Amino acid sequence: MTIQIDVGRSAAVNDDGYHEFKLGEFTFRRDEYFVYIGWPTGQHMMGADAFLRALQRDVAWDFFYGIVNFDGVFGTVNHYGTVDIFAGRYNDSYRRAELDYGENVETPAIRETFKAILDDWTNSSFDPFASPHETGSAFGLKNGNNTGAVTRRRVAAQRMVGVQGDEQVRSDESGFPVNRMFADVDQSEPVIEVEPGFEGEVAAFSLFAYLSRSNVTWNPSVVSVCKDSLACPTTEEYILPIIHGNDRVEWFIQLSDQITWEVEDRDTGAVRSRVVMKAGDVSAMPADIRHQGYSPKRSMLLVWENGSEKIPQAIASGQAPTYPVEF
Ligand code: PHB
Ligand code: FE
Repeated sequence: MTIQIDVGRSAAVNDDGYHEFKLGEFTFRRDEYFVYIGWPTGQHMMGADAFLRALQRDVAWDFFYGIVNFDGVFGTVNHYGTVDIFAGRYNDSYRRAELDYGENVETPAIRETFKAILDDWTNSSFDPFASPHETGSAFGLKNGNNTGAVTRRRVAAQRMVGVQGDEQVRSDESGFPVNRMFADVDQSEPVIEVEPGFEGEVAAFSLFAYLSRSNVTWNPSVVSVCKDSLACPTTEEYILPIIHGNDRVEWFIQLSDQITWEVEDRDTGAVRSRVVMKAGDVSAMPADIRHQGYSPKRSMLLVWENGSEKIPQAIASGQAPTYPVEF
């Protein structure tokens, strides 16, 4: 049985060639430069490029862990089955003025609506996953589409990359060339000498060579899964297109170059700290903050997540702390 989901798409296109969309009481409209989000008590504008980059991540990550702030006003909260869509909820000024608004919707409804907006509003010249320097313009009148790019899925290993049967992106034949900023990354692979009987069980690969071929930015792939421990390396350039409010502690290991993290209070947006991470630095982001990273050159970052579904509730109820270690 297929269930038809109403994605709230307008029958006609507007003057700039784009459809308009409705989800609950939220309305979505774009023109050449901007996206306009409306709700019963207010409205909000975002640049179309920033909006599409954030929307692309929210869709590809299926609403991610916790909160995906598109900016200081608009975003989503994942309840893993349902999603809150909100305006001003994590913004002190909106809250005080009682202008904040939110709705809880079934995940399939928001997933399909967001996918439809992303596809309709992304022109052929724009790839929301690419670094700004490696893609064309998001702006202008409706001009074709880029369905291949916006439906690309992140690579997820079942065990570890390199073990038989898992996806590999590790050679010139893969069709993924080494990125211009990683031209100096050694491409040699480790030599593995396996005891007879363990072929197919033991594997090793160069994570640096693997990441040097990533053609997307700010899109963690899952290269190893060990129970709830998820190793999610990624390549970063320019600005993380969302401000992430996590529902659990998250570890960062800076593998190359440098990222500056702006860290704010998760609920009010008040500034908490600026963390400058250089190659080799390790940090743990607490569960009561939100953060956005800035990477002046393409860099490699290992994000380490505990994927346990028990954690958000344990932290929200105070049973588990918002920070990872007691010194
Ligand atoms: C994060 O929110 O922690 C995050 C998201 C995407 C990345 C890196 C970090 O590429
Ligand atoms: Fe995060």
